[in-house]
Amino acid sequence: MRLLRDVPIRTKLARITQLALAAALGTGTVILLAVEFQMYRSAMTTEMRSMADVIGTNSRAALAFRDRAAGERTLAALGADPRIMAARLYTQEGRVFATYRRSDVNPDLIPAAAPADGLSLRARSLTLVQPIRLDAERIGTIWLQFGMATLYNFLLKHALIVIAVLGFASLAALALSSRLQGMIAGPVAHLAQMVKVVTERYDYSARAIKSGQDELGLLTDGFNEMLARIQERDAALQQAREELEERVALRTHELQLEIVERRRAEETLRKLSSAVEQTADSVLITDREGVIEYVNPAFERLTGYSRDEAVGRTPRLLKSGLHDQQFYERLWTTILSGKPFRAVFINRKKDGTLYYDDKTLTPLTNSQGQITHFLSAGRDITERMQAEEALRRSREQLRALAAHLESVREDERTRIAREIHDELGQMLTGLKFDLSSVAARLPHNQAALLERMQAMEQLIGATIQSVQRISTELRPGILDRLGLVAAMKWQTREFQTRTGIRCQLDVGLDGYEPDRETSTTLFRILQEALTNVVRHAGATAVNISLILDQDRLILAVVDNGRGITEQEMTDSNALGLLGMRERALLFGGEVTITGSPKGGTTVMVTIPLQQPTSLKSLDTEPVRAEPLDTVRPEPVEGTNGAQARPVEARHTHPSTSSG
Ligand SMILES: Nc1ncnc2c1ncn2[C@@H]1O[C@H](COP(=O)(O)OP(=O)(O)OP(=O)(O)O)[C@@H](O)[C@H]1O
Ligand SMILES: [Mg+2]
Repeated sequence: MRLLRDVPIRTKLARITQLALAAALGTGTVILLAVEFQMYRSAMTTEMRSMADVIGTNSRAALAFRDRAAGERTLAALGADPRIMAARLYTQEGRVFATYRRSDVNPDLIPAAAPADGLSLRARSLTLVQPIRLDAERIGTIWLQFGMATLYNFLLKHALIVIAVLGFASLAALALSSRLQGMIAGPVAHLAQMVKVVTERYDYSARAIKSGQDELGLLTDGFNEMLARIQERDAALQQAREELEERVALRTHELQLEIVERRRAEETLRKLSSAVEQTADSVLITDREGVIEYVNPAFERLTGYSRDEAVGRTPRLLKSGLHDQQFYERLWTTILSGKPFRAVFINRKKDGTLYYDDKTLTPLTNSQGQITHFLSAGRDITERMQAEEALRRSREQLRALAAHLESVREDERTRIAREIHDELGQMLTGLKFDLSSVAARLPHNQAALLERMQAMEQLIGATIQSVQRISTELRPGILDRLGLVAAMKWQTREFQTRTGIRCQLDVGLDGYEPDRETSTTLFRILQEALTNVVRHAGATAVNISLILDQDRLILAVVDNGRGITEQEMTDSNALGLLGMRERALLFGGEVTITGSPKGGTTVMVTIPLQQPTSLKSLDTEPVRAEPLDTVRPEPVEGTNGAQARPVEARHTHPSTSSG
């Protein structure tokens, strides 16, 4: 069986057929021969018995008369049958009576005394012993031995014939079976070939050819079906693999990008942390509850608190007590709503010194937008604040000084104008009166003298006019006597007469009378504006209007000249314009100047009626640089640190300082 295991199926089938045929042939032959043997033997036995009977009958007389010769003759007749090897007759007593033997038989093998009755079979012989009776009395025994050689020859012949017949039959069967084997082995071999193709080339598109509807046909169908499934799965697998490879490639690419990104982020983080460590600004980071988690070296230097001292505590550590509760409430509301809070804090260092801290508190959020920390970055602006404060005070002082000088100048002008007008004017008038009375008394022959005196009289008249003009220019008395509107009317008329530029005045004050200082300011600004028109505008007409608009006075001087340029307006040498602004500023007002080449120049002065206390008194107190308690924090706008920018400080009027 083991021999057949690895041979091709065609050989296997051939061997199986051959073996089966050999087995059938062998068994058939053996059985046939065995049957023949039995049949022949029983026939021979029957023949032996009847032969023994015949010899017994023929030998009875010889035995009865003890006639040995007769007995020998009877037995000698057996020589005609070549199958009989030997025969012997025994007397009643069992002694040898007569014997026959073939010449080739050994006489010692024939029993010397009568053996027991019966049939016995040996390899080469069949022996029969039976009694010889006369009238039921036993008178002797016959011993007869047949040789088996004849039987064996017969059997051999038969066997050869049977083998020959069966051999031919087997050859025919083999020939037939070898043709029929193809029907089984062919499809199986084909299937095996297909399996080889598939396994070697991984070609699942191959299909086995079906040979019929038998089990092999079913097997082929099953095989093809299996291949189809495998092909499908293979395709799906291939696709899945390709997709997977694509995804792996994509992910790899993403990972590479992520790595680059992370390296960049780490680099940025490193830079940021060293920036935070090295910056001159003091930085502190607290958790959501305000507990300090980090302070940078600048913080340590500024406040005097070491990192160990600060971490774990809250920024209350630096509290000066100079901010009210509302300030902190505003701070917390702002930062807890996610917006940055910027203010100038007044804080206290470890050694007790107060300092200005220009600080921005920024909430730090996680990816879900929840606040996790607060970042405070600030810088010590104490020196700047002190310098600013000094500057502010010095400006205020300068402004007060200018105002004071202006008012002194105005008073001086008024006094000089009055003295020139009153004293000089009266003296000249007196002189003129005296001169005309002297001239009236001159004798008629003094015509030349009279002429000179009349000329002198005219000169004095002109001088009086000059004096009046000068005094009016110094300070129009009409301003003090009849007020601003009258002074403006006079100025307008005078301007038009003097320059030839058409001048129009509109007043809408509803009976309101500005006080002396305001009137002076507006009048002087008007004068300066008109002077500029003559000097620079090249205008042919000027419109002046003065109106009361709710709670402010508005003076507008509009010309139709070339228009002031932006550069001229902001020129630091434009002292005339600066003077106008400063005058208005002293009353909490402002001057706006606009110009365009086609629209001329407009100077607009706005002065509120509710003016701050006059700045006339000069603050002579030396500048103090430590008004820490007057600082007001500025709120910031914006939703994150980047957008945070202080709300532009509302313009405050130059506040009065009482000194
Ligand atoms: N109405 C105007 N039309 C055109 N240009 C003007 C007008 N008013 C002023 N300017 C321009 O603005 C400049 C500044 O005017 P500002 O009154 O300050 O100086 P100024 O008149 O030149 O000298 P002053 O100090 O004597 O007044 C002028 O030099 C002039 O060029
Ligand atoms: Mg000017």
